[in-house]
Amino acid sequence: MHFNTNQNDNAMDYITARLGSEGSPMLAFGGDYNPEQWPEETWDEDVRLMREAGVNLVSVGIFSWSLLEPSEGVYEFGWLDRVLDLLHANGIRVDLANATASPPPWFSHKYPESLPVTADGVRHSYGSRQAFAASSRDYRRAAAALTEQIALRYKDHPAVVMWHVHNEYGCHNQPDFSDGAAAGFRSWLENRYGTIEALNHAWGTAFWSQRYYAWAEILPPRTSGTWVNPTQQLDFARYSSDELLECYKAEARIIRSHSGHPVTTNFMGFSMGLHQPVDYWRWAEQMDVVSNDHYLVAEDPRNFQELAATADLTRGWAQGKPWLLMEHSTSAVNWQPRNIAKAPGEMLRNSLQHVARGADGALFFQWRASRAGAEKFHSGMLPHAGTETKVWREVVQLGQALRSLAEVAGSVVTGASGSIDVAIIHDTDARWASELDSHPSVDASNIAETRRWHDAFYRAGIPTDFRQSTDDLSGYRLVVVPMQYLVTDAGAANLDAYVRSGGHLVVTYFSGIADENDHIRLGSYPGAFSDLLGVRMEEFFPLREAETVPLSAFGAGSCWSELGRATTAEVLAQVEVGPVAGSPAVTRNHAGKGRAYYVATSLSADGLAGFLPIVCADAAVAPLVPDLPANVEVVRRSREGTDWTFCINHGMDDVRLPLSGVELISGGDVDGGLSLAAGGVAVLRSRGPLSPRQPIH
Ligand code: GLA
Repeated sequence: MHFNTNQNDNAMDYITARLGSEGSPMLAFGGDYNPEQWPEETWDEDVRLMREAGVNLVSVGIFSWSLLEPSEGVYEFGWLDRVLDLLHANGIRVDLANATASPPPWFSHKYPESLPVTADGVRHSYGSRQAFAASSRDYRRAAAALTEQIALRYKDHPAVVMWHVHNEYGCHNQPDFSDGAAAGFRSWLENRYGTIEALNHAWGTAFWSQRYYAWAEILPPRTSGTWVNPTQQLDFARYSSDELLECYKAEARIIRSHSGHPVTTNFMGFSMGLHQPVDYWRWAEQMDVVSNDHYLVAEDPRNFQELAATADLTRGWAQGKPWLLMEHSTSAVNWQPRNIAKAPGEMLRNSLQHVARGADGALFFQWRASRAGAEKFHSGMLPHAGTETKVWREVVQLGQALRSLAEVAGSVVTGASGSIDVAIIHDTDARWASELDSHPSVDASNIAETRRWHDAFYRAGIPTDFRQSTDDLSGYRLVVVPMQYLVTDAGAANLDAYVRSGGHLVVTYFSGIADENDHIRLGSYPGAFSDLLGVRMEEFFPLREAETVPLSAFGAGSCWSELGRATTAEVLAQVEVGPVAGSPAVTRNHAGKGRAYYVATSLSADGLAGFLPIVCADAAVAPLVPDLPANVEVVRRSREGTDWTFCINHGMDDVRLPLSGVELISGGDVDGGLSLAAGGVAVLRSRGPLSPRQPIH
């Protein structure tokens, strides 16, 4: 089978079907395996312990370039041959990397111009990783040559089931402001605008004497005296993502010309801001399987909800289909200010959260915790202290849990109505544009507001998808638009049509303000949505740090308020005191067959908990379990008439949930009342026969 059509329906099925012994699908379990960091004598112990834990998939070779190609055009594959043969002999499948993530020192030494340059003009040195500029022809040539060698050599290796291109594109070298990037940016702009007049218009260069007369005058938004032209910054983010994507596409093309296994590269969740620009919506179209890496922010008290939001976003990129958790950690990482270890049971809860939200497996960075190098304090599946450890026992326990959940593979995430009823809009351009400088308030954050709304639904037990403003939204009863500062004409028209044909739309403050060139939409705020929302706002009144304004309902607002009035909307809450007293804070407007709500401030968790029941009642959106206890997560996956309900208790109290079914992790029947201990997990299969799966070839 070939996966030359992107995001092929069966690509994740293709992988899971190859992980079980008799072709029966298994959820993926394993991690990055870096045997080159260890003497060969260790490898036998590695595979023995992998078998003990039930590991069935490992990613190999991600950072091996300097060993595989010791000098230009000279390749040494002996050790990798032996590793792959050993894994195969032990029934462990391989996600094989093309090893282009980190060029070797000899390469950077020989081609210093391949190194990326910061906005201040400082050229990066080598000595860490990912030290290359996406625009470098030398890098691309060398990466293509290595990819060709690896694909040719291992395309028929029986251990290999998928391909791992590069690693976390853009993590350390994005954006690059080198001369190569300047040239690439110029041709990207010529392609986008055609004429310099069109560029001048888009960039608003009449302002501050910025008019350009020739393409050659244009530079990346390098450090300047003060704010660089915002549209230039936005276009540079778009260009930088595209330039990097060209690297992926070139390498994937080579692999696909030799092999039919699915191809992926691992994404980094929400880390795709203006200063690390990778537009995963566009990238996902190029993946056979969407895979993501997720690391808990240890000190965030609601980090499990951030995990849930990231998993939902990843499922959005995968268009609702199963995806793969390529990396997470068994315990502490090494790169946060304070690397808090995971409490007993936390890793199992984290892993099952990802699976509940559509991952067909849970992999880790990395198999064996390193002895040397920058990540030696990062946890692994096999810790420094060996197997007599909490981490190892929990790894073995997780392997067992994932085996008992094998039947979940290939199912999709659903909600109370049988599908997911709520979508949150998350356009990359809107996020990037909202992160530009010289805005009304540093506290107004697209990511923070998005997370707040996701959290509100999370607390209510209502599953949410992530979508783009231009997607077909007709399947959703409710769509939320958190701080969509920039919206394209097409996105605005799509959201408008969605409401008028019967949808329910919530729009928050600082949305619809700018068009795709970052030009203000004139007339009234919130620009593109004023008519739809039935409000006319005239001036922003951002709040002081930590200031709040009391509202007539839903508590108090923070971060933001606005002066204005409702035109056709019904006011559900108004600002009570201060310079905008009497201005609307929360409104509802009938438009066509639907309703559109405006929230002109940032509501607290309590405020959102008061508002959500109103809008959910209007839109007929229900939770999976009513009155869900605090910090308990209930998520459902379904396939052909069978449901699997994942119940995860992140709280300190034992709870009882009104659910029935066959519990798959500890085994046993549950009849109407599931007892879930503090920190506990359960997965209930609905009663009735399991429908047989179609064989996968
Ligand atoms: C990323 C990388 C890994 C490793 C981990 C550490 O996800 O892909 O190679 O550095 O971070 O958390």
